[in-house]
Amino acid sequence: MRTRPAKLDGLQIEVLASRKSEKWHSYPPDVLPAWVAEMDFPLAEPIQRVLQRAVDHWDLGYPVEPRDTGLCEAFAQRMSDRFDWRIDPRRVEIITEVVQGLYIALEAYSRRGEGVVVQTPIYPPFLSAVADTDRQLVENRLVSGPQGWEIDFDALHSAVDDATRVLTLCNPHNPCGRVYTRPELERLAEFALANDLVVVSDEIHCDLVYEQHGHIPFATLSPQVEAQTVTLNSASKSFNIAGLRCAVAHFGSADLQRRFTDRFPRHIRGGMGILGLYASIAAWRESQAWLDAVAQHLEANRNAVVDTLARRMPAIHCHEPEGTYLAWLDCSRLELPTSPAAHFLEHGRVALSDGRHFGNGWEKYVRLNFATSSEILEQVLQRMTDALNR
Ligand SMILES: Cc1ncc(COP(=O)(O)O)c(C=O)c1O
Repeated sequence: MRTRPAKLDGLQIEVLASRKSEKWHSYPPDVLPAWVAEMDFPLAEPIQRVLQRAVDHWDLGYPVEPRDTGLCEAFAQRMSDRFDWRIDPRRVEIITEVVQGLYIALEAYSRRGEGVVVQTPIYPPFLSAVADTDRQLVENRLVSGPQGWEIDFDALHSAVDDATRVLTLCNPHNPCGRVYTRPELERLAEFALANDLVVVSDEIHCDLVYEQHGHIPFATLSPQVEAQTVTLNSASKSFNIAGLRCAVAHFGSADLQRRFTDRFPRHIRGGMGILGLYASIAAWRESQAWLDAVAQHLEANRNAVVDTLARRMPAIHCHEPEGTYLAWLDCSRLELPTSPAAHFLEHGRVALSDGRHFGNGWEKYVRLNFATSSEILEQVLQRMTDALNR
């Protein structure tokens, strides 16, 4: 069946506002939401078709798991096609969400009170996973250098001790939009091997990487690195189907897989829903044309954000995101009386993510989600400009 090109501009705010998911449903109607990582675009047609078919055929029974679902194979094929990463589908477990995988990994590979490295600022569930499982937060702050956000390797060396068990990685990085280079990842891998750390690598943003940058799955660095790595991924971010609750975890060794599944067998993890299964397979196998169009559009939006900030809000600093549809804005030079997120909400009626949720010391930052039409993005940026010029 022919797939029509996705229509990514000219989105109707009234239609978006009728959604019941988090992004458009958490603030009063006069607020433009640019916070939680959901996109405003129409769904890829292949995904719409499989969901429609399931409803038309009343095909909402149990997914076939634990027999073959085809999802692990679809993931393995995609990793091979996109990143030249050859994996055995039997080393892939289906989970309901990436964040669930993060929590289980901490339970499986460390004990109470043991250390987990988290590089901040970070997608907030990394921090809640450490706190909720009573692990010790080993925080390493990314530093802003001339080339962008960088890992502080010296600080990392002094932060870990004998009780540190897990190194978490978010690549591409939410909220900074970094796509780590091979030398950076190799240095991190060397560090993890030397300290015998299990690496939990959240690569959910792997498809959303811009020109001149390329995603490198951490586990591809070497067989030794792979054997110590758990990779978490999902079609939910790139294809905007987070509500369908379906994700995967790849284990670089049978031992890592066994420790994860023994501790949390399928029924504790909760099975994935059949719609998530159908949609994820359609995303990974049939929706690349949609994703290519979205990535191109996002890159133009990313450029618009960076240019507009430089021209109209020069006191806000932002390193150009290399991946993700998120921009991490340093508002410290604005010297606002309230938090920047509160200021933009109150005076601009724009909802951004508040930096304080991304780790201690990031209160003067906000995260801007630019996955929308160019017209809505322009309105968001204009409202922010007006909120500063009052
Ligand atoms: C880095 C990262 N990991 C995980 C998630 C959430 O994934 P899931 O809904 O599968 O838990 C997000 C959502 O924004 C994210 O940015």
